[in-house]
Amino acid sequence: MSYDLIVIGTGPGGYVCAIRAAQLGLKTAVVEKRKTHGGTCLNVGCIPSKALLHASHAFEDASTHFDKLGISVGTPKIDLKKMMAFKQEGVDGNTKGVEFLLKKNKVDVFFGAGRIAAAGQVEVTADDGSNQILQTKNIVIATGSDVTRLPGIEIDEKVVVSSTGALELESVPKRLVVIGAGVIGLELGSVWRRLGSDVTVVEYLDRILPGMDGEVAKNFQRMLSKQGFAFKLGSKVTKVEKKGKGALVTIEPAAGGAAETIEADVVLVAIGRVPYTQGLGLDEIGVQKDAKGRILTDAHFSTNVTGIYAIGDVIAGPMLAHKAEDEGVAVAEILAGKAGHVNYDVIPGVVYTAPEVASVGKTEEELKAAGIAYNVGKFPFMANGRAKSIGLTEGFVKILADAATDKVLGVHIVGANAGELIHEAVIAMEFGGSSEDIARSCHAHPTLAEAVKEAAMAVEKRSIHM
Ligand code: FAD
Ligand code: NAI
Repeated sequence: MSYDLIVIGTGPGGYVCAIRAAQLGLKTAVVEKRKTHGGTCLNVGCIPSKALLHASHAFEDASTHFDKLGISVGTPKIDLKKMMAFKQEGVDGNTKGVEFLLKKNKVDVFFGAGRIAAAGQVEVTADDGSNQILQTKNIVIATGSDVTRLPGIEIDEKVVVSSTGALELESVPKRLVVIGAGVIGLELGSVWRRLGSDVTVVEYLDRILPGMDGEVAKNFQRMLSKQGFAFKLGSKVTKVEKKGKGALVTIEPAAGGAAETIEADVVLVAIGRVPYTQGLGLDEIGVQKDAKGRILTDAHFSTNVTGIYAIGDVIAGPMLAHKAEDEGVAVAEILAGKAGHVNYDVIPGVVYTAPEVASVGKTEEELKAAGIAYNVGKFPFMANGRAKSIGLTEGFVKILADAATDKVLGVHIVGANAGELIHEAVIAMEFGGSSEDIARSCHAHPTLAEAVKEAAMAVEKRSIHM
């Protein structure tokens, strides 16, 4: 069997790359060691977490907000088994969708662990131990990432869980301790808080969501605290001991000081993810990695070994599904002789909590550090007609525009539907737009998107509704 391209891993990076390559006429195969396609994202990441965020949000709405709308549903009850079945239905629908798309595009599929035996050769070992060698002109590594572990703290996926275990708890823990106030900690912390857990988040830094705009993160933390989240910032976990059916978590101030303990029924370790390259045989063929274990690539996703490329979580950059997908398309186009490209300045990031947090481009902290002069336009949802009419007035839109040219450099939103609203900023920035371009674009009324327009108008201090 000989191919133009073999992609190892069918997460968002790998399957999208394979489909695009096949569309462009390359004879393509994929190798996947899970039983289903879609990688972390579809199986144990984006998709199941969004299903549980949706279901738990609906439960909280029914429990606390419906009454105000004049709707009486009595006291809603949780059927966790049914909720998990709903989640699984979404996962299955998506993973089967990928299977269908690969077939439709005539991509050959090999289930088993892939190892690069040599440039141009991929060895596939199936679950039953049988193996075969496939020949190929090019290889794209899209093997993704794995959970970062805390030294000395064993993840059993029952009491001490990673995101994977936190997506399939069999009962609602009374006390959930989350280690890490990043995206996973806050999203999955939200799910279990809504379903009834007391959630305490322990974070090493003195802020939540590092990397997000500081003002947005600070306001968002206030909102989460109002919802019942407890935060222990500037704290490090030094020990997690199993105690009875739960665990005892020992924390210390990051700067040093007296230790304290917190009792938990479940502990979620969410301190980041690491690139996954185990078993690929990279050292044997001399593929270089950086100090963080990420595969080193050039601007065309090529490793230092001719014919071997890498994309997605396994290389540098934000560990996001859409970043992996765009890299998949770009490398396929490059391999087909086209000009594939990813604009890393305009990759949105969304936290799918309630309210949502969304961001694209530079934060104020980054602009200050780079010495770039900028103007700020801000608009609160409190002054937006639609937000008022539906009672979702928390949060604001913040636009950062170059002081000299008015080019939009960053947009940060905390508020309802922020994850959808951010895309108007993404498009404006992709087209090199200015805040005035957004401000002069007609926005339908009444929409939450009008807050984006008003924030753009506020850059020139001419917002109407503030
Ligand atoms: P992966 O999706 O990790 O896929 C890699 C695949 O390679 C896997 O299927 C694996 O089995 C396979 N593989 C590995 N080694 C081999 C081998 N040797 N042979 C064969 N196959 C192999 N991102 C977002 O953008 N939005 C979100 O809402 C979001 N939510 C998330 C929620 C959670 C709980 C988690 C954990 C992550 C979330 N992410 C989200 C991140 C997102 O899942 C990743 O950025 C994305 O999956 C990376 O895609 P990838 O293709 O690089 O790798
Ligand atoms: P993260 O990098 O977002 O956050 C990890 C947090 O843990 C940071 O705040 C960090 O300071 C803290 N931390 C690190 N070590 C610590 C320690 N020893 N004690 C206490 N705190 C510590 O990582 P997270 O949340 O695990 O997510 C992993 C990846 O998955 C992220 O890169 C993210 O992009 C992706 N993801 C994306 C989602 C989305 O796009 N909505 C949802 C979930 C995950």
